[in-house]
Amino acid sequence: MKTEIIERLPNVSKSELVKYFPKIDVKEYPELINYSWEDCHKGSMGAGDLFLTNELTKKINIKKGMRILELGAGNCLSAIFLAKKYNVEIIAADLWIDPTSNWQRIKDEGVENYVKPIKMDARSIPFPKGYFDVVFSMNSYFYFGTDDLYLPYLLKYIKETGIICIASPCFASEFKYKIPEEFLFDPPEFKESYSIHSPNWWRKHFEKVKQIEVLECFKHPKGREFWLDSIRWQIESGRNINDFLKDITMLLKDENEYLTYFTLIAKKTKTID
Ligand SMILES: C[S@@+](CC[C@H](N)C(=O)[O-])C[C@H]1O[C@@H](n2cnc3c(N)ncnc32)[C@H](O)[C@@H]1O
Repeated sequence: MKTEIIERLPNVSKSELVKYFPKIDVKEYPELINYSWEDCHKGSMGAGDLFLTNELTKKINIKKGMRILELGAGNCLSAIFLAKKYNVEIIAADLWIDPTSNWQRIKDEGVENYVKPIKMDARSIPFPKGYFDVVFSMNSYFYFGTDDLYLPYLLKYIKETGIICIASPCFASEFKYKIPEEFLFDPPEFKESYSIHSPNWWRKHFEKVKQIEVLECFKHPKGREFWLDSIRWQIESGRNINDFLKDITMLLKDENEYLTYFTLIAKKTKTID
């Protein structure tokens, strides 16, 4: 059935297609009571955004007055949510998104005293060492964080016992040889296809750094559902199927459910120079 639909793409009706891309039920997330399903997606540049932001940050004991650095904040969906929920200061750093458009969104949401949008490369952090209580990154860390030297660099800007909290797309396990063609998302344009890894890879990547204790790192039980839900949003929001045909095909072909999400929470244990 899936094969048949893949062969007919993009000539498939919306009603046929949505059957394969169920929605996440926002009711499962009581903290998102003020958000509709549409609100959870508007402006999001990845999957699982607010669902995972909410779930992860509940685990790390965020307190009023803390300073959070969000790397790859995109359109500030998560940063605005965190500011409203915890009254914390968030530096919403992003390389491509214009901070002026983010600033307008931040003001519209009434959190301008908490969220500061900046254009910043995660590899060039213009803040004092030991400045942040938490580094948070949603759907973004794989753009810059696979370099072995990146984590030791990032740690300099985090307070002792500070926390790193990440959620990102991943493969359920590493491929022994090459990444199969159907899982390479549009390289060479999207070269980050090559930096998608498994939760175990990320755990090892973090654990080899002495100043890090990984508190948890796993394949999220709803990882695949987040991907499917994000495609559903694109279908429902009226986007032309041809613009995200690759995503649809990739997920429909993924019989063995390699495409999923991992979450990682790690603590800094010692200061390094
Ligand atoms: C898939 S989007 C995710 C955005 C947002 N967190 C979300 O979930 O909607 C990835 C973001 O990472 C940002 N990014 C990529 N490389 C970066 C870098 N080196 N430094 C900072 N941000 C980067 C991009 O600008 C983009 O907005």
